[in-house]
Amino acid sequence: MDIKVISDDIGKIKTDAIILYHFEGMKKPVGDAAVVDEAMGRAITELIGSGEITGNYNEITVLHSLGKLPAGRIVVLGLGKKNRLTIDKLRGAVAECCRRLRDRAVAGIIFSTGKDGIAGIGTRNAAQAVTEGALLGLYAFRRHITVTESRPKEIERLLVTGDTREMSSRERGVAEGVIIAEAVNWARNLVNEPGNHMTPGRMADSAKELSEACGIEIQVMERDRIAAAGMGALLGVAKGSLQPPRFIILKYRGRASDEVDIALVGKGITFDSGGISIKPSEKMSEMKRDMAGGAAVIAAMGAVSRLGLAINAYAFVPAAENMPGGGALKPGDILTAMNGKTIEVLNTDAEGRLILADALCYAADMLPEAIVDVATLTGACHVALGDFCTGVFSNDRKLAGMLIAAGEETGEHMWQMPMFDEYRELLKSDTADIKNIGNRWGGAITAAKFLEDFVGKTRWAHLDIAGTSSTEKEKGHLVKGATGVPVRTLIRLLQTMAR
Ligand code: BES
Ligand code: ZN
Ligand code: ZN
Repeated sequence: MDIKVISDDIGKIKTDAIILYHFEGMKKPVGDAAVVDEAMGRAITELIGSGEITGNYNEITVLHSLGKLPAGRIVVLGLGKKNRLTIDKLRGAVAECCRRLRDRAVAGIIFSTGKDGIAGIGTRNAAQAVTEGALLGLYAFRRHITVTESRPKEIERLLVTGDTREMSSRERGVAEGVIIAEAVNWARNLVNEPGNHMTPGRMADSAKELSEACGIEIQVMERDRIAAAGMGALLGVAKGSLQPPRFIILKYRGRASDEVDIALVGKGITFDSGGISIKPSEKMSEMKRDMAGGAAVIAAMGAVSRLGLAINAYAFVPAAENMPGGGALKPGDILTAMNGKTIEVLNTDAEGRLILADALCYAADMLPEAIVDVATLTGACHVALGDFCTGVFSNDRKLAGMLIAAGEETGEHMWQMPMFDEYRELLKSDTADIKNIGNRWGGAITAAKFLEDFVGKTRWAHLDIAGTSSTEKEKGHLVKGATGVPVRTLIRLLQTMAR
């Protein structure tokens, strides 16, 4: 989509649709809507009066201008109660509105961020929210659909207008919104790709393409080097598959220092069959998304580089396919992780924590200020927190607090879970230093306690995105399939840290 920032009067532009907004309880149109209303012979006022336009959140009313204005349609978007509008709600409403207009074959739209923003949301944030709403809400994964007739028309042009004096705020908001939304959609593309197209090798290739485009240093380790580094847990998981593993390393230096301010680690299981502890076939296909954590950290790194943040950030993604081939891990097998700790594998389906064990050791060896790992780790976390909230597990209250705060700012909810020592006792093994599963209860926490054993004393937080990385329903800026969570939160966290 082509996005342009302008300062022209919204009523003077020739485009397919002008999007205006209205709030609940307001008796008449204001701002741009009042100007357009005048030109339309007070049609909007009339519809408000008759109760057809209420301003309810996500209400969409389409009027045809029939030559009264250069634009073909006037769309009035309900934003709910004026004092209850948030950036997240604005982003979501724009997304819904864009999808509805795409269904009506609208190709060009114009949106105004008002005189000084929208209902208390400043111009820059409003422009960013509108941009993200349009780009994220219109996202669709159609790479493998070859029948072109079924393809809907796309919205091709978005103009963001408003007050002339606010031009540079509007430009900054749109530019940042584009970078962030493109990062999220890049991650979504990887996560939506099926297992036969998104193998560990392809994931590394995608990371290479992105790092070249964004100017980040990349290193990809293949099986021999992974073995030489002593990553026995990653190798163990990869053994059951014909697809060789990869260990992807990204380095971004945004400030002149050798310090590593943060290390991001993401689970990159390109397909999780469960291995010998094989999963039930129902919904097993969803396990093509088990690399969502890896995709998110790579995408966030790309955006951090494009935004030029003054921070040094590294990312590590262990990538493998979990399959039950002849060479596969067997329940009872003992693996040795990179730090020398031995792991008794009692369930081969608890493979994410195995590959993360090595990646966390590798990351901790770089002596970063903090580590944040992201993983579709446990069904238990999905059960505990549902579809809309990511689990946060940490050995550092401040880091957890920063993540939760960044999540609230972006609308990606997160909630901290307990890490009491009692949970670690459930991982005691009779034959090795640790076993890879606990008992039936508190599965998300025992998984996190397992990871904690591999970060040493480093400040660390773990995000379990098993419930939030994909969705079955279209809602706001989310469409069916991959959500791209928590790309926006990671970017926001690094923005905060860079300040
Ligand atoms: N990738 C799964 C977790 C998962 C489940 C992610 C559902 C997204 C949706 C993970 O590797 C797994 O299989 N975990 C097991 C752990 C168990 C064997 C201790 C689980 O959650 O059942
Ligand atoms: Zn698994
Ligand atoms: Zn998994």
